[in-house]
Amino acid sequence: MSIPIAIRLDHVSRVYPRADETVRALDQVSLQVPASCSLAITGASGSGKSTLLALAAGLDPASEGRIEVLGQDVTAMTEDQRSDFRRENIGFVFQNYHLLPTLTVWENVMMPLVPTYPDTLELKARALQWIERVGLAKRINHLPGELSGGEQQRVGLARALIGEPTLILADEPTGNLDSANAGTILDLLFELAGGVHRSVVLSTHDPAIAERCQHRVHLEAGRLVSSTLEEL
Ligand SMILES: Nc1ncnc2c1ncn2[C@@H]1O[C@H](COP(=O)(O)OP(=O)(O)OP(=O)(O)O)[C@@H](O)[C@H]1O
Ligand SMILES: [Mg+2]
Repeated sequence: MSIPIAIRLDHVSRVYPRADETVRALDQVSLQVPASCSLAITGASGSGKSTLLALAAGLDPASEGRIEVLGQDVTAMTEDQRSDFRRENIGFVFQNYHLLPTLTVWENVMMPLVPTYPDTLELKARALQWIERVGLAKRINHLPGELSGGEQQRVGLARALIGEPTLILADEPTGNLDSANAGTILDLLFELAGGVHRSVVLSTHDPAIAERCQHRVHLEAGRLVSSTLEEL
């Protein structure tokens, strides 16, 4: 039996046409990420790490090539279909947290499930469980602006995981944190994400973080220049 694949990129490019020059943020990238694995995307600033994650999440469309996520062709979906697919299957952790500033910790964590979850009390209880798991039980009614960076990232993690997604994509999840906080966030990410057929793909500048993942790919100027993954 073949190993299930979490993400497959087949000659994928993302081009940003500009008046002066065309930026190839991703340039003919092909790779496949097996299910139940962790992968680090490394590369200098501007090499295309965020672009690759945004494409895999369906946050941004590819200009060329084909992207399959969890066996589904994301490139054939409309924007609405991609956002439904993302809500059902993917948890995304943003480098800058992307919390809604006027909502409390509790409300931020509930957000992804509000459109689909019928029972608010049940949803509140479920959010509370995740908030406890990331160690923020004493902060449930705080606003993001009243939290430290590490605390905000823990809220971001709880929000990404409340839907129990099959795929977790994290764009420099510890980029703004000191090394102690970064370690805590990563421990939580791997612990909470650990599960059958659950995959974690993160981007990082930090070789020590990349070493914690089972696989690594390296980008230079939008091109994949080295990879520990099996070839497509
Ligand atoms: N909306 C856009 N319009 C034009 N160019 C863009 C756009 N978004 C990204 N780019 C360019 O695409 C390239 C890749 O950007 P990307 O954000 O993926 O890099 P990155 O590896 O995540 O960098 P960093 O480590 O700084 O986060 C960069 O050269 C960037 O300037
Ligand atoms: Mg980036």
